[in-house]
Amino acid sequence: MPSISELKAQLKQLNAEYAKIKDMPAEKRADFGKELNVKKQKIIQQIADAENAAQDVDIVPLDITASRDINADAPEFLTADFGSQHPLMTELDRVIGIYQSMGFDIMESVQLDDEYHMFDSLNFAKGHPARDGYDTFRTKEGFIPPAHTSTMQHRVLKAYKHKLDEGKIIAVAVPGRVYRNEDVDATHEHTFYQCEGVYVSETCTLGNMLGILREFFEKYYGQKLNIKTQPGYFPFTEPSLEFLIEKPAALGGKGKGGDWLEMLGCGMIHPNVLKMAGIDPTKYQGFAWGGGIDRLVMLRYGLGDVRNFESAKLDFLKEFAC
Ligand code: DAH
Repeated sequence: MPSISELKAQLKQLNAEYAKIKDMPAEKRADFGKELNVKKQKIIQQIADAENAAQDVDIVPLDITASRDINADAPEFLTADFGSQHPLMTELDRVIGIYQSMGFDIMESVQLDDEYHMFDSLNFAKGHPARDGYDTFRTKEGFIPPAHTSTMQHRVLKAYKHKLDEGKIIAVAVPGRVYRNEDVDATHEHTFYQCEGVYVSETCTLGNMLGILREFFEKYYGQKLNIKTQPGYFPFTEPSLEFLIEKPAALGGKGKGGDWLEMLGCGMIHPNVLKMAGIDPTKYQGFAWGGGIDRLVMLRYGLGDVRNFESAKLDFLKEFAC
Protein backbone atom coordinates (compact mmCIF):
# COMPACT_ATOMS: atom_id res chain seq x y z
CA MET A 1 0.00 0.00 0.00
CA PRO A 2 1.57 3.33 -1.02
CA SER A 3 1.98 5.95 1.73
CA ILE A 4 -0.19 9.05 1.93
CA SER A 5 2.59 11.25 0.58
CA GLU A 6 3.16 8.86 -2.35
CA LEU A 7 -0.57 8.91 -3.13
CA LYS A 8 -0.61 12.70 -2.96
CA ALA A 9 2.33 12.80 -5.37
CA GLN A 10 0.43 10.49 -7.75
CA LEU A 11 -2.59 12.79 -7.53
CA LYS A 12 -0.45 15.79 -8.38
CA GLN A 13 1.00 13.99 -11.39
CA LEU A 14 -2.46 12.98 -12.52
CA ASN A 15 -3.80 16.51 -12.18
CA ALA A 16 -1.00 17.68 -14.47
CA GLU A 17 -2.27 15.22 -17.13
CA TYR A 18 -5.49 17.24 -17.51
CA ALA A 19 -3.49 19.97 -19.24
CA LYS A 20 -2.92 17.59 -22.17
CA ILE A 21 -6.63 17.49 -23.03
CA LYS A 22 -6.68 20.81 -24.83
CA ASP A 23 -4.02 19.67 -27.32
CA MET A 24 -5.83 16.40 -28.22
CA PRO A 25 -7.99 15.69 -31.24
CA ALA A 26 -11.60 16.42 -30.26
CA GLU A 27 -12.78 12.76 -30.62
CA LYS A 28 -10.22 11.49 -28.10
CA ARG A 29 -10.80 14.10 -25.41
CA ALA A 30 -13.92 12.60 -23.83
CA ASP A 31 -12.42 9.11 -23.34
CA PHE A 32 -9.13 10.47 -22.05
CA GLY A 33 -10.92 12.79 -19.62
CA LYS A 34 -13.15 9.98 -18.36
CA GLU A 35 -10.17 7.71 -17.79
CA LEU A 36 -8.40 10.43 -15.80
CA ASN A 37 -11.53 11.04 -13.71
CA VAL A 38 -11.78 7.34 -12.81
CA LYS A 39 -8.10 7.20 -11.83
CA LYS A 40 -8.44 10.40 -9.85
CA GLN A 41 -11.46 9.15 -7.89
CA LYS A 42 -9.56 5.96 -7.09
CA ILE A 43 -6.56 7.84 -5.70
CA ILE A 44 -8.76 10.25 -3.73
CA GLN A 45 -10.50 7.23 -2.19
CA GLN A 46 -7.17 5.60 -1.35
CA ILE A 47 -5.97 8.80 0.35
CA ALA A 48 -9.20 9.02 2.37
CA ASP A 49 -8.86 5.34 3.41
CA ALA A 50 -5.21 5.83 4.40
CA GLU A 51 -6.06 8.94 6.40
CA ASN A 52 -8.89 7.14 8.19
CA ALA A 53 -6.57 4.26 9.00
CA ALA A 54 -4.04 6.75 10.36
CA GLN A 55 -6.70 8.24 12.64
CA ASP A 56 -7.44 4.79 14.06
CA VAL A 57 -3.84 4.11 15.04
CA ASP A 58 -3.68 3.97 18.81
CA ILE A 59 -0.97 6.37 19.86
CA VAL A 60 0.33 5.27 23.21
CA PRO A 61 1.97 8.22 24.94
CA LEU A 62 5.57 7.61 25.94
CA ASP A 63 6.24 7.65 29.66
CA ILE A 64 9.45 9.65 29.48
CA THR A 65 9.99 9.36 33.23
CA ALA A 66 9.99 5.53 33.27
CA SER A 67 13.41 3.90 33.43
CA ARG A 68 14.16 1.63 30.52
CA ASP A 69 17.00 0.00 28.68
CA ILE A 70 17.91 2.51 26.05
CA ASN A 71 18.97 -0.21 23.62
CA ALA A 72 15.94 -2.45 24.07
CA ASP A 73 12.30 -1.64 23.36
CA ALA A 74 13.10 1.51 21.38
CA PRO A 75 9.84 3.41 20.93
CA GLU A 76 8.27 3.34 17.52
CA PHE A 77 8.26 6.80 16.06
CA LEU A 78 5.35 8.11 14.07
CA THR A 79 6.13 8.31 10.38
CA ALA A 80 6.47 11.72 8.79
CA ASP A 81 3.17 11.05 6.97
CA PHE A 82 1.32 11.96 10.15
CA GLY A 83 3.49 14.92 11.09
CA SER A 84 3.16 18.64 10.63
CA GLN A 85 5.31 21.63 11.48
CA HIS A 86 5.32 22.71 15.14
CA PRO A 87 3.27 25.93 15.57
CA LEU A 88 6.26 27.76 17.07
CA MET A 89 8.34 27.00 13.97
CA THR A 90 5.55 28.24 11.68
CA GLU A 91 5.35 31.46 13.68
CA LEU A 92 9.12 31.80 13.84
CA ASP A 93 9.16 31.66 10.02
CA ARG A 94 6.54 34.42 10.03
CA VAL A 95 8.65 36.54 12.40
CA ILE A 96 11.79 36.00 10.31
CA GLY A 97 9.85 36.86 7.14
CA ILE A 98 8.73 40.19 8.59
CA TYR A 99 12.26 41.15 9.63
CA GLN A 100 13.59 40.11 6.21
CA SER A 101 10.93 42.23 4.50
CA MET A 102 12.25 45.15 6.57
CA GLY A 103 15.81 44.58 5.32
CA PHE A 104 17.22 42.63 8.27
CA ASP A 105 19.75 39.80 7.89
CA ILE A 106 19.07 36.70 9.97
CA MET A 107 21.58 34.85 12.14
CA GLU A 108 20.54 31.80 14.16
CA SER A 109 21.40 31.75 17.85
CA VAL A 110 23.65 29.06 19.35
CA GLN A 111 22.27 26.55 21.86
CA LEU A 112 25.31 26.14 24.08
CA ASP A 113 27.25 29.17 25.13
CA ASP A 114 29.87 30.40 27.56
CA GLU A 115 30.32 32.88 30.41
CA TYR A 116 31.90 35.45 28.09
CA HIS A 117 28.97 35.74 25.66
CA MET A 118 26.31 35.29 28.36
CA PHE A 119 27.72 37.97 30.67
CA ASP A 120 31.14 39.62 30.08
CA SER A 121 30.57 40.72 26.46
CA LEU A 122 27.21 42.16 27.57
CA ASN A 123 28.81 44.46 30.14
CA PHE A 124 27.74 42.48 33.22
CA ALA A 125 30.44 43.38 35.76
CA LYS A 126 32.10 40.38 37.45
CA GLY A 127 30.09 39.41 40.52
CA HIS A 128 27.24 41.82 39.61
CA PRO A 129 23.91 40.65 41.09
CA ALA A 130 22.29 41.05 37.64
CA ARG A 131 24.11 37.84 36.66
CA ASP A 132 21.96 35.93 39.17
CA GLY A 133 18.80 37.39 37.65
CA TYR A 134 19.10 35.12 34.64
CA ASP A 135 18.69 31.71 36.35
CA THR A 136 21.02 30.00 33.94
CA PHE A 137 21.56 26.26 33.66
CA ARG A 138 25.19 25.16 33.54
CA THR A 139 26.92 22.03 32.31
CA LYS A 140 29.56 20.39 34.49
CA GLU A 141 32.19 21.92 32.20
CA GLY A 142 30.82 25.41 32.86
CA PHE A 143 29.01 25.93 29.54
CA ILE A 144 25.71 27.78 29.62
CA PRO A 145 22.62 27.01 27.54
CA PRO A 146 21.85 30.66 26.65
CA ALA A 147 19.23 32.32 28.86
CA HIS A 148 18.51 34.93 26.18
CA THR A 149 19.36 35.62 22.55
CA SER A 150 21.38 38.66 23.66
CA THR A 151 24.34 36.25 23.98
CA MET A 152 24.53 36.67 20.18
CA GLN A 153 25.02 40.44 20.26
CA HIS A 154 28.81 40.29 20.45
CA ARG A 155 28.94 37.74 17.61
CA VAL A 156 26.60 39.82 15.42
CA LEU A 157 28.60 43.00 15.99
CA LYS A 158 31.90 41.30 15.18
CA ALA A 159 30.58 39.42 12.13
CA TYR A 160 28.91 42.52 10.63
CA LYS A 161 31.43 45.19 11.66
CA HIS A 162 32.80 45.23 8.09
CA LYS A 163 29.47 46.70 6.94
CA LEU A 164 30.15 49.84 8.96
CA ASP A 165 33.62 50.07 7.42
CA GLU A 166 31.90 49.87 4.01
CA GLY A 167 29.60 52.78 4.93
CA LYS A 168 26.56 50.53 5.45
CA ILE A 169 24.50 49.78 8.57
CA ILE A 170 24.16 46.66 10.72
CA ALA A 171 20.59 45.32 10.89
CA VAL A 172 20.33 41.71 12.05
CA ALA A 173 17.57 39.65 13.69
CA VAL A 174 18.55 36.58 15.71
CA PRO A 175 15.92 33.95 16.50
CA GLY A 176 16.84 31.19 18.91
CA ARG A 177 15.93 28.75 21.65
CA VAL A 178 16.75 29.84 25.20
CA TYR A 179 16.75 28.16 28.60
CA ARG A 180 16.10 29.28 32.17
CA ASN A 181 16.22 27.31 35.36
CA GLU A 182 12.88 28.51 36.68
CA ASP A 183 9.71 27.01 38.08
CA VAL A 184 7.36 26.11 35.27
CA ASP A 185 3.77 27.36 35.27
CA ALA A 186 1.20 28.58 32.74
CA THR A 187 3.32 31.62 31.88
CA HIS A 188 6.86 30.34 32.51
CA GLU A 189 8.79 27.62 30.69
CA HIS A 190 12.37 26.43 31.17
CA THR A 191 12.73 26.26 27.37
CA PHE A 192 11.35 28.92 25.08
CA TYR A 193 12.15 31.03 22.03
CA GLN A 194 13.28 34.61 21.67
CA CYS A 195 14.18 36.90 18.82
CA GLU A 196 16.86 39.55 19.16
CA GLY A 197 17.31 42.62 16.99
CA VAL A 198 20.60 44.48 16.60
CA TYR A 199 20.92 47.75 14.66
CA VAL A 200 24.00 49.98 14.38
CA SER A 201 24.71 53.06 12.27
CA GLU A 202 26.31 56.48 12.67
CA THR A 203 23.06 58.28 13.38
CA CYS A 204 20.32 55.90 14.61
CA THR A 205 18.16 56.92 17.57
CA LEU A 206 15.63 55.42 19.98
CA GLY A 207 12.97 57.00 17.76
CA ASN A 208 14.13 54.79 14.85
CA MET A 209 13.96 51.75 17.12
CA LEU A 210 10.39 52.48 18.19
CA GLY A 211 9.45 52.90 14.52
CA ILE A 212 10.92 49.50 13.67
CA LEU A 213 9.25 47.81 16.64
CA ARG A 214 5.86 49.36 15.87
CA GLU A 215 6.16 48.23 12.25
CA PHE A 216 7.10 44.70 13.33
CA PHE A 217 4.24 44.26 15.81
CA GLU A 218 1.64 45.82 13.50
CA LYS A 219 2.72 43.51 10.69
CA TYR A 220 2.70 40.44 12.95
CA TYR A 221 -0.75 41.13 14.39
CA GLY A 222 -2.13 42.62 11.16
CA GLN A 223 -3.54 45.75 12.79
CA LYS A 224 -2.68 49.22 14.13
CA LEU A 225 -1.44 49.14 17.73
CA ASN A 226 -0.87 51.56 20.57
CA ILE A 227 2.64 51.28 21.97
CA LYS A 228 4.50 52.70 24.96
CA THR A 229 7.77 52.25 26.80
CA GLN A 230 8.74 52.31 30.45
CA PRO A 231 12.17 52.42 32.04
CA GLY A 232 13.97 49.11 32.48
CA TYR A 233 17.43 47.93 33.47
CA PHE A 234 19.83 45.82 31.43
CA PRO A 235 23.61 46.18 31.79
CA PHE A 236 24.03 46.01 27.99
CA THR A 237 21.82 49.00 27.13
CA GLU A 238 21.81 52.64 28.22
CA PRO A 239 19.11 53.81 28.47
CA SER A 240 17.16 50.54 28.88
CA LEU A 241 13.45 50.30 28.19
CA GLU A 242 10.57 47.86 28.34
CA PHE A 243 8.36 47.97 25.26
CA LEU A 244 4.60 47.47 25.69
CA ILE A 245 1.63 47.17 23.36
CA GLU A 246 -1.98 47.79 24.29
CA LYS A 247 -4.02 44.61 23.88
CA PRO A 248 -6.54 45.36 21.13
CA ALA A 249 -10.12 44.08 21.35
CA ALA A 250 -9.46 41.81 18.35
CA LEU A 251 -6.82 39.99 20.43
CA GLY A 252 -8.97 39.59 23.53
CA GLY A 253 -8.49 43.04 25.08
CA LYS A 254 -11.39 44.50 27.05
CA GLY A 255 -11.82 47.15 24.36
CA LYS A 256 -11.56 49.95 26.95
CA GLY A 257 -7.80 50.33 26.61
CA GLY A 258 -5.35 50.33 29.48
CA ASP A 259 -4.57 46.64 28.95
CA TRP A 260 -0.79 46.95 28.50
CA LEU A 261 1.42 43.94 27.79
CA GLU A 262 5.19 43.96 28.05
CA MET A 263 6.52 42.42 24.85
CA LEU A 264 10.29 42.91 25.05
CA GLY A 265 13.31 44.61 26.55
CA CYS A 266 15.29 47.11 24.49
CA GLY A 267 17.51 50.17 24.54
CA MET A 268 20.56 51.90 23.07
CA ILE A 269 23.51 49.48 22.98
CA HIS A 270 25.94 50.31 25.80
CA PRO A 271 29.20 51.88 24.48
CA ASN A 272 31.19 49.14 26.29
CA VAL A 273 29.37 46.46 24.28
CA LEU A 274 30.26 48.18 21.01
CA LYS A 275 33.86 48.70 22.17
CA MET A 276 34.31 45.02 23.10
CA ALA A 277 33.32 44.08 19.55
CA GLY A 278 35.84 46.53 18.08
CA ILE A 279 33.29 49.21 17.10
CA ASP A 280 34.13 52.81 17.96
CA PRO A 281 31.28 54.13 20.18
CA THR A 282 32.29 57.73 19.52
CA LYS A 283 31.52 57.19 15.82
CA TYR A 284 28.69 54.65 15.84
CA GLN A 285 25.61 54.04 17.94
CA GLY A 286 23.09 51.26 17.98
CA PHE A 287 19.96 49.86 19.54
CA ALA A 288 18.91 46.32 20.35
CA TRP A 289 15.88 44.47 21.58
CA GLY A 290 14.92 40.95 22.56
CA GLY A 291 11.59 39.34 23.37
CA GLY A 292 9.80 36.01 23.67
CA ILE A 293 8.27 34.33 20.65
CA ASP A 294 6.02 32.07 22.73
CA ARG A 295 4.31 35.08 24.31
CA LEU A 296 3.90 36.72 20.91
CA VAL A 297 2.20 33.61 19.53
CA MET A 298 0.02 33.09 22.61
CA LEU A 299 -1.46 36.57 22.18
CA ARG A 300 -2.06 36.04 18.48
CA TYR A 301 -4.04 32.83 19.04
CA GLY A 302 -5.50 33.55 22.48
CA LEU A 303 -3.57 30.69 24.14
CA GLY A 304 -3.46 30.52 27.93
CA ASP A 305 -0.74 27.99 28.78
CA VAL A 306 2.84 28.26 27.50
CA ARG A 307 3.56 24.68 28.61
CA ASN A 308 1.55 23.35 25.68
CA PHE A 309 4.32 24.28 23.27
CA GLU A 310 6.84 21.88 24.79
CA SER A 311 4.33 19.26 25.94
CA ALA A 312 4.07 17.25 22.69
CA LYS A 313 0.33 17.00 23.36
CA LEU A 314 -1.09 15.88 20.03
CA ASP A 315 -4.51 17.41 20.70
CA PHE A 316 -2.93 20.83 21.06
CA LEU A 317 -0.57 20.43 18.12
CA LYS A 318 -3.32 19.14 15.81
CA GLU A 319 -5.19 22.42 16.19
CA PHE A 320 -2.34 24.04 14.26
CA ALA A 321 -1.59 21.21 11.83
CA CYS A 322 -1.74 22.13 8.17
N1 DAH B 1 17.85 39.81 26.82
C1 DAH B 1 16.87 40.49 27.63
C2 DAH B 1 16.03 39.44 28.37
O1 DAH B 1 15.84 38.36 27.89
C3 DAH B 1 15.97 41.34 26.78
C4 DAH B 1 16.72 42.48 26.14
C5 DAH B 1 16.80 43.70 26.76
C6 DAH B 1 17.34 42.31 24.90
C7 DAH B 1 17.46 44.76 26.19
C8 DAH B 1 18.02 43.39 24.32
C9 DAH B 1 18.06 44.60 24.98
O2 DAH B 1 18.65 43.31 23.15
O3 DAH B 1 18.70 45.62 24.37
O4 DAH B 1 15.59 39.71 29.45
